[in-house]
Amino acid sequence: MTESIIIIDFGSQVTKLIARRIREFGVFSQIVPFDKVTRKLLSNNSVKGIILSGGPKSVHEKNSPKIDDYIYELEIPILGICYGLQLIAKQFGGKIIPSTDREFGKTKIKLTKKSPLLENVLFPNKPVQVWMSHSDKISVIPDSFEKIASSDNCEFAAIQNQKKKIYCVQFHPEVIHTIGGKKILKNFIRNICVCSAKWNMKFFKKKIIEDIKMQVGKDKVICGLSGGVDSTVTATLIHKAIKNNLVCVFVDTGFMRSGERKQIQELFNKNFQIKLKVIDSSKIFFEKLKGVKDPEIKRKIIGKEFIKIFENFALQQKNIKYLAQGTLYPDVIESKSKIGNTNVIIKSHHNVGGLPKKMKLKLLEPLKELFKDEVRELGRKLNIPKTFTNRHPFPGPGLAIRLLGEVNQKDISILRNADKIFIQLIKDEGLYDEIWQAFCVLLPVKTVGVMGDKRTYEKICILRAVTSLDGMTAEAYKFKNHFLEKCASEIVNKVPGINRVCYDYTSKPPGTIEYE
Ligand code: XMP
Repeated sequence: MTESIIIIDFGSQVTKLIARRIREFGVFSQIVPFDKVTRKLLSNNSVKGIILSGGPKSVHEKNSPKIDDYIYELEIPILGICYGLQLIAKQFGGKIIPSTDREFGKTKIKLTKKSPLLENVLFPNKPVQVWMSHSDKISVIPDSFEKIASSDNCEFAAIQNQKKKIYCVQFHPEVIHTIGGKKILKNFIRNICVCSAKWNMKFFKKKIIEDIKMQVGKDKVICGLSGGVDSTVTATLIHKAIKNNLVCVFVDTGFMRSGERKQIQELFNKNFQIKLKVIDSSKIFFEKLKGVKDPEIKRKIIGKEFIKIFENFALQQKNIKYLAQGTLYPDVIESKSKIGNTNVIIKSHHNVGGLPKKMKLKLLEPLKELFKDEVRELGRKLNIPKTFTNRHPFPGPGLAIRLLGEVNQKDISILRNADKIFIQLIKDEGLYDEIWQAFCVLLPVKTVGVMGDKRTYEKICILRAVTSLDGMTAEAYKFKNHFLEKCASEIVNKVPGINRVCYDYTSKPPGTIEYE
C-alpha cells in the first residue's frame, strides 16, 4: 500500500508547494480542501501524517474554516502551518490574538527547546531565517503544548505536543526563503511520520493514467497542443489512458515559433501514432486582434477564440466531452491568486484565466498539481524525446504577447526571425539547457540607426533570457558581453525591420518573464 500524507488545505497560496516538497522526499501526498475531509479518508491505514496548511482567514472570523477535533484522536502525527497552528492552538484551549506587528517576509527565529521537528535545523544560540506571513499569533499556549522556537515579534513561533505527535509552526517551511525549511518538512515526514521513500514519478505516472481512465470513462477527449512540453506530456498521458478516444488538435494561431508546426506533426505521427488534427486559424486570430493593444484583452480574446475552435471541432466529431489542457500549478496561481477575499490577477494565462465562463466542454487538466521540472521528468518517463522535454516554455498566446501592443503579420514575422537567430546562437554556444527560457520581444517603438551610410528608422528587439526553478521567480541570465554583441549584430544584419537590440536584466519579481 502506498504511504500517504494528507494536506488539509485552508486556502494558502503555497499549499501546493508543501505537496511538491513531500513528493521530493519520495512520499505520496494528497491535498484535500478542509470541507471535504472525512473520518473515513483519514482513517485509511496508508495515511501516515496530516498537515494543516496556512490560509488567509483569521480563526476569529465567523465563518473561518475549521476541522473536527476527532483528527487529534486518530494517533496520526500532525503538522500545523500558520493558520494550521492557530487553529490547533485554539482547539486545544490556547489564545490567539491579532498581532500588533504583522509579520510578512523574512524574520529570524531561535530554538527554545530541542524538538525532533527542528533537528539539525535550529541549534542553541544560532537564530535562523524563516518566512512569516501572518496577522494573528498565539498569546497563550495550550496547556498540553510547549514552546520550541520564538522570534522577536512572535513568542510562539513553533510549538509541540510530543505525546500526541502534534507539531506547529507559525512560519512557512515550504517556501525557499525559510532556511532549512525542507529539512523541517523532511524531519516531519521521515522521522516523525516514519514514511519510507518508495514513491516516485513512475508511480505518479501510473496514478495519473488511472485517474484519467476513471474520470473520462468511455467519453472522448480533445487535447489542445501548443508544441510545448506541457501539452505534449498531457496528450501522451491521456493517450496511454484512453487510446483512440483522444484526438489532438494543434491550432496554428499564426503566433508559433519557427518550424513548430512541422516538429509537432512529426512527433505525434511518427513517434506516437496519436491522431493529430492541424487547424490553420491564423487569419481569424489576426482579424480578432486588429486594433487591440491591451495585454489582458489580447489574452482574453485569444483564450476565447481557442475554445471556440475546439468546441466547433468537438461538435463535428460527436461524443467529445472533455477538453484537455497542459495547465501547470504556477499557471493556476498566477491567474487566480487570492488575498483574503480579493482576486489578484497577475496575468490571465490563456489556458486558465482566459477561458470563457460558460464552456460546452468539460476541462481535463492532469498536470494541474505539478511544476515544470516535474512535468519534464514525467515526460522522460513517457519516452518523449529530449528535444521536447527540454524545450523552453512557450506561452499559449505565443508570439502575440511578445509583440507588444497591436499584432500584425509583418511584425510577427520579424519577431519570429529574430527569435530563431537568438535561440540558434544560444544552442550553438551550448547554453540552451542552462537557461529556463530565452526569447525575443519586439517593442512598438522605432529608433534611428545608420546602415551602409543610410539612415534607418526601425523597431527595437529586446532579448530576454532567465534562469528559474519553476517560473514563479526568475533571474536574468548573465551572458558574456561578446555573446550579446554577436546576437545584436546578427539580428540587426539579418532581420529587416530591427535596427537596435537591448538585453533585459530585470528579475521576477518585480518584472514578469513575459512582457504582457
Ligand atoms: P510570467 O510572464 O507570468 O510567466 O512570469 C511565467 C511562465 O509562464 C509562462 N506563461 C504562460 N504559459 N499560457 C501558458 O501556458 C499562458 O498564457 C502563459 N503566460 C505566461 C511564461 O512563458 C513563463 O514560463
